[in-house]
Amino acid sequence: MKIAISGKGGVGKTILAALLSKTFAESGYSVIAIDADPDANLAATLGFPHADKITPISEMSSLIEERTGARPGQASPYFKLNPKVDDLPEKYSLKHNGISLMVMGRIKRGGTGCYCPEGALLQALITHLVLFRNEVVILDMEAGIEHLGRAIAKAVDRLIVVVEPSRRSIETAYRINKLAHDIGLQNIAVVANKIRSQAEREFIISSLPDFEFFGFIPYDQAIIDADLANLPPLDSSQQIINEVRNIYHKLVSTAQTPSRIN
Ligand SMILES: Nc1ncnc2c1ncn2[C@@H]1O[C@H](COP(=O)(O)OP(=O)(O)OP(=O)(O)O)[C@@H](O)[C@H]1O
Ligand SMILES: [Mg+2]
Repeated sequence: MKIAISGKGGVGKTILAALLSKTFAESGYSVIAIDADPDANLAATLGFPHADKITPISEMSSLIEERTGARPGQASPYFKLNPKVDDLPEKYSLKHNGISLMVMGRIKRGGTGCYCPEGALLQALITHLVLFRNEVVILDMEAGIEHLGRAIAKAVDRLIVVVEPSRRSIETAYRINKLAHDIGLQNIAVVANKIRSQAEREFIISSLPDFEFFGFIPYDQAIIDADLANLPPLDSSQQIINEVRNIYHKLVSTAQTPSRIN
């Protein structure tokens, strides 16, 4: 199963990506978690040791040059658009608690996309992970999903849009929904996070009438307190763990066999 998680900044994408990865892994699945957010913090949230020392793929200049024929930042008109990447998950993923993690890193984008060597390598790598791997793949993404591309979009079983009780996050959900449809991605589900009252829950439901909801995660101060105390956030809230387990069941029970290629 291939799951992409998007939404406005700060809504809880990374917490959800981490807890879902953990739930799938604990249920016996092989899991590859992909941090595709330029402001990467999935490793730390998953409790990877020395998370701040991880070098993202986009900063591996020699690797990028070896595979694409050009160095990042180099003004080269020629580089391979389909570099070899199938050996990279084994070589460059980190493992912890049964979860493999790949940190993609930042690419400097210009205009509508990055036609640069590091962009080509990341695109090829994400495409490979989503199209050709048998593991559960969970992508923690920023709000912009246009760079996902059509090939990837076809293979994603579920795009989860995380929202919180705020108009801005609802607006972002509509924007993501439109982008998703533009690239042919239709299996979208909303997860509402940081819910503090019935009124907030109803606000979100009434703001997104045509969306399918996969879960409502309560706001729990315990997560913030754990963060401040430098304790693992993933273990800090049983009510959030329970709700993510429900979302996991929903994902598993609604998974279809997608038309992988063609
Ligand atoms: N249900 C919740 N209750 C309380 N705090 C929460 C909840 N979900 C997330 N948070 C807190 O909100 C903050 C943002 O969460 P998170 O980093 O998962 O969001 P994000 O969408 O990945 O953010 P970014 O866009 O910066 O990557 C964190 O401090 C997290 O601890
Ligand atoms: Mg995040």
